[in-house]
Amino acid sequence: MDRSTICSWLTERDPARLQALWDWADRVRASGVGDAVHLRGLIEVSNYCVRDCSYCGLRRPRGGLPRYRLSEEEVMQAVRRAVEWGFGTVVLQSGEDPGLEAGWMRSLVTRIKKETSLAITLSLGERRRDELAAWRDSGADRYLLKFETSNRELYRRIHPERADEPGRLSLLAHLRDLGYEVGSGVMVGIPGQTFDDLSRDIELFGELDLDMISVGPFIPHPATPLGHEVLSANGVPGGSEVALAAMALTRIKCPRANIPTTTALSTLDVGAGLERGLNVGANVVMPNLTPPPYRQLYQVYPGKGGNGEDPTTEPRRIIERIRALGRCIGDGRGDAPKSWAPAAAALVAEVRT
Ligand code: 5AD
Repeated sequence: MDRSTICSWLTERDPARLQALWDWADRVRASGVGDAVHLRGLIEVSNYCVRDCSYCGLRRPRGGLPRYRLSEEEVMQAVRRAVEWGFGTVVLQSGEDPGLEAGWMRSLVTRIKKETSLAITLSLGERRRDELAAWRDSGADRYLLKFETSNRELYRRIHPERADEPGRLSLLAHLRDLGYEVGSGVMVGIPGQTFDDLSRDIELFGELDLDMISVGPFIPHPATPLGHEVLSANGVPGGSEVALAAMALTRIKCPRANIPTTTALSTLDVGAGLERGLNVGANVVMPNLTPPPYRQLYQVYPGKGGNGEDPTTEPRRIIERIRALGRCIGDGRGDAPKSWAPAAAALVAEVRT
């Protein structure tokens, strides 16, 4: 599927044609990664951030937001809950926080690996190469770093860059060299984003051969510069609809990637966001295991982590909702099937016949 075809699907509004797109993505998901939905326990380790991204509620210049870092014991309690729930992975996520010291993180990763058989995904922003290498050495399996948009100019506008940094695409290549499974993603509906930009994003997912891809709606945060910006007439609108189309097209482009249904989608549509994501290509859900007092403080956008649900029953409800769709819960770690595997299998079959 080329870029102009992706673009015309993104602007499709005919309900019957859109239903055909959802069904297509769902079939590709079933044949590419099967019916299992993998659960990853999300632990938001720190809401400190040194960056000033104009879209994000954790940006450093934002006043009035109490900041926290979990203790090792608090993280380990959440890790044990992931084990109790039978999850295969924990995701350690934070703002870009140099106060999360490399050595501290390293011993945390070592400890989780020693005490559990969980896979570990890190999502800690743009860190130094020696730090990324040290964490990989101590056993971290995967790293998530969204490139947010492939439009360089738009990216620079929303994510002020430091002079000396390599850039996220170069870091993604480096993470792969270190042997991490690599994840990335974008936001849909960033003010100033065009449909052509978004089509290019989806094309780039295919070129980067990512193991994990997250595509979520942009949700304006009133305490950020982008919280009040008026959308341009021909830009990508916010809300769930285009985000769902982008997810479906991402699945069609990358049949074997692990694709989560995003928390942002569920925040916009508490009642059905989870189901809608799982029906248009997603095969991963990330229940939040951050201890309740801290959860409300990890506010990248409004409404996140703030719906007051009882955290002890939340994973149970998520599991029920997944099963109600006729999908099963994945067992094991839910590693990404390597993209060469199906090609190699097809080749073997061809040689044999
Ligand atoms: N709306 C949606 N997603 C957001 N993120 C940050 N701010 C927002 C927002 N306002 C996402 C970005 C980032 C991650 C921390 O959360 O994709 O990578």
